[in-house]
Amino acid sequence: MSEIINLKGRNLVEPNDFTLQELDSIFDLADKILADPASYQEVGKGKLLATLFYEPSTRTRFSFEAAMLRLGGQLIGFDNPDFSSVSKGESLVDTIRTVACYADLGVIRHPREGTAKLVSKGLSNFEMPIINAGDGGHEHPTQTLTDLMTIRHEKGTCNNLTIGLCGDLLFGRTVHSLIKALKRYEGNKFVLISPKELKLPDSVKDLLDDDDYIETDNLDDVIDDLDILYMTRVQRERFVNEEEYLRLKDYFVLDNKKLQNARDDMLILHPLPRNEEIAEEVDVDPRAKYFTQARYGMFVRMALIMKLLGLENA
Ligand code: NCD
Repeated sequence: MSEIINLKGRNLVEPNDFTLQELDSIFDLADKILADPASYQEVGKGKLLATLFYEPSTRTRFSFEAAMLRLGGQLIGFDNPDFSSVSKGESLVDTIRTVACYADLGVIRHPREGTAKLVSKGLSNFEMPIINAGDGGHEHPTQTLTDLMTIRHEKGTCNNLTIGLCGDLLFGRTVHSLIKALKRYEGNKFVLISPKELKLPDSVKDLLDDDDYIETDNLDDVIDDLDILYMTRVQRERFVNEEEYLRLKDYFVLDNKKLQNARDDMLILHPLPRNEEIAEEVDVDPRAKYFTQARYGMFVRMALIMKLLGLENA
């Protein structure tokens, strides 16, 4: 039997906070839970998860809440900061420190970049690990765990893949986190597909070797090369200019016609929510895995919660 990798008390602010071996240990546990969820339905009994959402979320918040409830744990939290003491002028770090007096684990989403890191530092003397559920346009590590688990399951490996990322690569935090994570595996190539206004920021691009990526604004030219096509929506809430958003929002629309040239085993992923960038007719294509991906997201969050709370042997 392999040794259990202990992640108790650790924070997850960026995907690279964990080594590949540590990530694998989370995916291995997620696979075990997926195969036999009933065996895990009480391991979180008596534990409390706080969900602190300063920015709207359906999927991420529900999947954390479903994950905790399916482990037998309980929840406190808010999804509208107007109902928290922020409206009384309390600092964010003070709010979280107070929550840390009550809860065992905290999940935070905030529109400002770097918030999860700031909060986790402010909690260094407290015993509540922090999970970043999205900080502005910066990172979204648990979506990356979801994406990697999906790729591992559906492709059998996270190595030697050609990954097309299409849409809003500028503001799409899931893209930033996924590229940083997949770059650590061997032999991956990235095809960055966006309008020129929404190109991947240099801060992420500079992490890639020149040979490891190409940039294009034409999906048709590259679709037949891809093992994975990761579609994203244009992030309306991060635009300063609404007209610019309206001009760019339907730049790419994946439909059955566009898919004619794609490989039979190409995976179509999307972090969701979808707008118009994937036509609904694509949903029944066997290559479309975005709802399966959402399901894996719950199992991988169950595994992450267990790991950070040290429940694996419970
Ligand atoms: C993503 C996000 O919040 O960044 N959604 C999610 O968590 N599944 C993607 C998006 O909002 O476009």
